[in-house]
Amino acid sequence: MPTIVTWLGHATWLVKAGADLILIDPFLDDNPAAPYKADKVSPNFILISHGHGDHVADAAQIAKRTGALVLANYEICNWLGAQGVKNTLAHNLGGGSQHSFGRVQFTLAHHSSSLPDGANGGNPSGFLLSLADGNYYFACDTGLFYDMKLIGERGLKLAVLPIGDLFTMGPDDALAAVKLLKPQHVVPSHFNTWPPIEQDAQVWSRRVAAETSTKPHVLKPGDTLILP
Ligand code: NI
Ligand code: MN
Repeated sequence: MPTIVTWLGHATWLVKAGADLILIDPFLDDNPAAPYKADKVSPNFILISHGHGDHVADAAQIAKRTGALVLANYEICNWLGAQGVKNTLAHNLGGGSQHSFGRVQFTLAHHSSSLPDGANGGNPSGFLLSLADGNYYFACDTGLFYDMKLIGERGLKLAVLPIGDLFTMGPDDALAAVKLLKPQHVVPSHFNTWPPIEQDAQVWSRRVAAETSTKPHVLKPGDTLILP
């Protein structure tokens, strides 16, 4: 069964891998780009990259309703635990865990991670998902860093990269990231949710196609990607 990747707007992604539904950085109810609200999604895994509101907003609500296993850093797991989320598995950078869908490893991200109430959200991360049909890398919120080359050496089927600028890499650095990661496919994320992070993803996609051998895919919120 092929992996199905759906963009739910901003930095929220849904990955259907085999029988599992993995929700990454749930931000739906207050996300102006989301195709539907948080009560419409029922994952059995929730991955949280860092503590910012545009990544954790609906995590507790969805986790409590569905009982999904939340994979996040130790500080975010504790913060969710205090809100009544019982099913969490705490990680730290470089660590990973094995599940029915495959392995998830917490990768570096150069960003910050305070939680909405000011609590310490630990260190931010990205995710490397090793699924039945290949490695899927979600950089999540980060600037460009040269160690992306090491992640790329694993062999990536897909990289999901922020291009919005201001809070994360912008288009120029995201293009440099593609050159370090060398994924087969790339999809832009974390842009056009609000005016400060507006970008022309088609222009960026044409640069990727012209300067790298990676195939870019520009999605609209709600769109789905199935890779060959
Ligand atoms: Ni952030
Ligand atoms: Mn963000």
